[in-house]
Amino acid sequence: MILIGFMGSGKTTIASGLSEKMNIQAIDLDEEVVKLAGKTIPQIFEEEGEAGFRQKEFEALARTSTIRGIIATGGGVVTYDRSYNFLKNTGQPVIYLHADFDTLYSRIEGDENRPLVKRKDQVRRLYDGRLDLYRQVADHEINASLPVEEVVSTILEIKEC
Ligand code: S3P
Repeated sequence: MILIGFMGSGKTTIASGLSEKMNIQAIDLDEEVVKLAGKTIPQIFEEEGEAGFRQKEFEALARTSTIRGIIATGGGVVTYDRSYNFLKNTGQPVIYLHADFDTLYSRIEGDENRPLVKRKDQVRRLYDGRLDLYRQVADHEINASLPVEEVVSTILEIKEC
């Protein structure tokens, strides 16, 4: 299963909740990229640009998707063609964790480990530009503004998950 959604939608937390209930591994793509690069996300963005980060993120996605587990992706994974196509064609269920912009922004505001979180209007533009992409690749859309346990149990009710 692959979780997608904007920054702050709770992908990592939901993946570990699901991992406990389903007794399968949770994999965090951001962590995989950091391991692959041997540097932090802000360092990758600074030294290799967003393009360098997206390339590594795609490699991590392609690699980890062969493992039986729950993959929490990074919020921008759908903006890179190769990753988008990968998600669109994967046999695994892709779950989109949706919440409105203000809810998400209040969760990520001021986070220095997220290089794309700067001015609010810029973040809003990213959000607006990504909504359709999430919906195009997702098999299911879940309301991610609810408490974590509710989001987890809603996903567990989906038959193919
Ligand atoms: C990004 C989201 C981040 C991380 C990187 C870029 C994005 O992951 O991959 O900072 O473009 O939205 P989270 O969604 O886990 O914050």
